[in-house]
Amino acid sequence: MLENLTQQPPDKIIMLSGMFRADERDTKIDLGVGVYKDANGNTPIMRAVKKAEQLLWNEETTKSYTALVGDGAFHKVMADLVLGDSVSYDRLAFAHAPGGTGAIRQILELIKVASPDATVWMSNPTWPNHPAMVKGVGIPMETYAYLNMETRTVDFDGMMGDLAKVKSGDIVILHGCCHNPTGANLNQTQWGKVADLLNEKGAVPFIDIAYQGFGDGLDEDAFGVRLLAQKCPEMLISASCSKNFGIYRERCGLVITVSKDADNTALAQGMLSSLNRLNFSFPPDHGARLVTMVLSDPELRADWEAELEEVRTGMLGLRKMLADALRAETGSDRYGFIAEHRGMFSRLGLSEEQVTQLREEHAIYMIGDSRFNVAGLNEKVIPILAKAIVAVGG
Ligand code: LMR
Repeated sequence: MLENLTQQPPDKIIMLSGMFRADERDTKIDLGVGVYKDANGNTPIMRAVKKAEQLLWNEETTKSYTALVGDGAFHKVMADLVLGDSVSYDRLAFAHAPGGTGAIRQILELIKVASPDATVWMSNPTWPNHPAMVKGVGIPMETYAYLNMETRTVDFDGMMGDLAKVKSGDIVILHGCCHNPTGANLNQTQWGKVADLLNEKGAVPFIDIAYQGFGDGLDEDAFGVRLLAQKCPEMLISASCSKNFGIYRERCGLVITVSKDADNTALAQGMLSSLNRLNFSFPPDHGARLVTMVLSDPELRADWEAELEEVRTGMLGLRKMLADALRAETGSDRYGFIAEHRGMFSRLGLSEEQVTQLREEHAIYMIGDSRFNVAGLNEKVIPILAKAIVAVGG
């Protein structure tokens, strides 16, 4: 039986991590997978999360199952974090899933059942796992223009031109903030225009929000998702706690659906419960419990917000430092966009060959489309990277 299987294409991001680990050069620099690193190259456990773990160790009395869709207290704190008071709670249904990826998968399965003729639209480019998963679930897909290569800002005319082609019932994936891989984001006016167009077309927004707090701030990064929640009758949301709580391996993500009314909410909740049961029964609890504790305890929450803010402003500083170093090395402002972008990633605009050269000759690892992880930078790495970019002709 197993001989019938065919070789699967490796995921480029995960493959690169393996290549980095196998590289024996002690000068190697990892700008690949989107994992936060401090100035020493470590991915720390956030202070409030560590404290919550200590409390949990003392307080937890059972490891028995929670509900199929996870704990209601987790849903509530996350709804507040992501949606604020933009939408009434009786329009929301939830499913805790293993990571943001798990939440996306559950949403795609829900789409397949609820809207079998829908096409899923995604930005070109997007996180490579978006098209891979949509294909895996067997849903037709289309892309919409996203990045203006000249200005390195959102190609808003191109995007709206493509989205004008969506059909009623189609689904449009939007990155809530910190667009992965480009770092270029919609401004507030553009969010409003996208919402109006999708409503006019009868299309359903699907917001993937994996980096809330890494861009302009916790509330600022939720502007788009909250605006759409106010304006659109229906919406799908996948939220990840991997990055902003630093709990990657705990696999903590959440599906939130926004429905027209309470009857539809009950239908969505029932389907989400069933999908969890069919796919993995109960979601992993530990990460969600920590998130709930951190968000509901004023002291832990204040400390978490302060540390997240240090992470965010640290990354902004690194963006500026790299843009300055490249300005000095190239004598031009062609990398100035790095300081303007937000979140963990930008794309340098190098060719695959140049990216390979960076890896082979300079031990610098980034994704083949020249996406680099801002958090992999530090004061020591920045001048090395700037010189290497110029050395490969960038
Ligand atoms: C990334 O884009 O590097 C992260 O979202 C990690 C992943 O799973 O790909």
